[in-house]
Amino acid sequence: MNTFHRKAPILENRELGPDILLMSVEAGDIASGVYPGQFIHAEAPGRSLRRAFSVFSVSGDSLSIIYRVRGKGTRAISALGKGGILDILGPLGKGFPRPGENPLFLAGGLGAAPLGFLASKTSGGVFLYGAERECDFIPEELLNIPGHTLIRVCRGSSGETVTDILPEYLNGAGALYAAGPTAMLKKAAGVSRGKLKTFVSWEETLGCGTGLCMGCAVKTLSGYKMTCSDGPVFDAEEIDWDAC
Ligand SMILES: Cc1cc2nc3c(=O)[nH]c(=O)nc-3n(C[C@H](O)[C@H](O)[C@H](O)COP(=O)(O)OP(=O)(O)OC[C@H]3O[C@@H](n4cnc5c(N)ncnc54)[C@H](O)[C@@H]3O)c2cc1C
Ligand code: FES
Repeated sequence: MNTFHRKAPILENRELGPDILLMSVEAGDIASGVYPGQFIHAEAPGRSLRRAFSVFSVSGDSLSIIYRVRGKGTRAISALGKGGILDILGPLGKGFPRPGENPLFLAGGLGAAPLGFLASKTSGGVFLYGAERECDFIPEELLNIPGHTLIRVCRGSSGETVTDILPEYLNGAGALYAAGPTAMLKKAAGVSRGKLKTFVSWEETLGCGTGLCMGCAVKTLSGYKMTCSDGPVFDAEEIDWDAC
């Protein structure tokens, strides 16, 4: 797999909701080579380390990401405007395996970005979306998944979460593809263990993004692996869940 470095012209960088933005850039070879679950590593103006973003969609030569403003890096990226440049490396990491029949997707928050991209390559699946902070606001762009049954669960006063309803959807599903907070992934992996092949997209703070600095280790049953280069997508059975 080839990785490219590109100074990508920004086509749009617009707010979808409070501190959530969608950015599209002209990305040439990166856009044509990326597969769902892979990410780009973007330079944040004024910061030394790049920031990782899953690719949300691809259209021709351009790709989009959806991101939340968390700290100084994403704040600086959010200030970039149309016509500006985003310096990116990509596509990076190992994406999801190609889904077969009846895929089941489980997304928590912005975990819906890589899974929306994956779902766009399939039809007839079920897409479970869980939110906590986005209960009042879910960007329409994030959940525009034609051809799939979409079920949203917002943790409300009942305390029910999307993983609570997951068991109802395991029967008949081909495989489970999950992305979101680690606690959600851990619970989902527990629910599906022994019943349904499960793949999870792991999130870790990255340094180099290319497997060199060893800064993004995840403990697996066969030793430590690097989130950025061995993942971010792992077979759930590989992860040492007791360690997280
Ligand atoms: C493979 C991969 C794909 C990702 N895809 C997306 C995406 O599509 N959209 C998106 O919004 N974010 C995504 N992230 C997370 C994103 O990279 C971080 O939110 C971003 O680097 C934070 O940068 P910052 O400068 O704003 O925050 P910092 O100033 O570096 O940190 C601010 C706060 O965010 C926390 N933080 C930093 N990095 C992460 C992280 N990786 N996970 C959880 N908390 C973190 C820090 O602990 C701190 O509390 C992804 C991360 C990985 C590893
Ligand atoms: S971020 Fe450097 S090895 Fe993964």
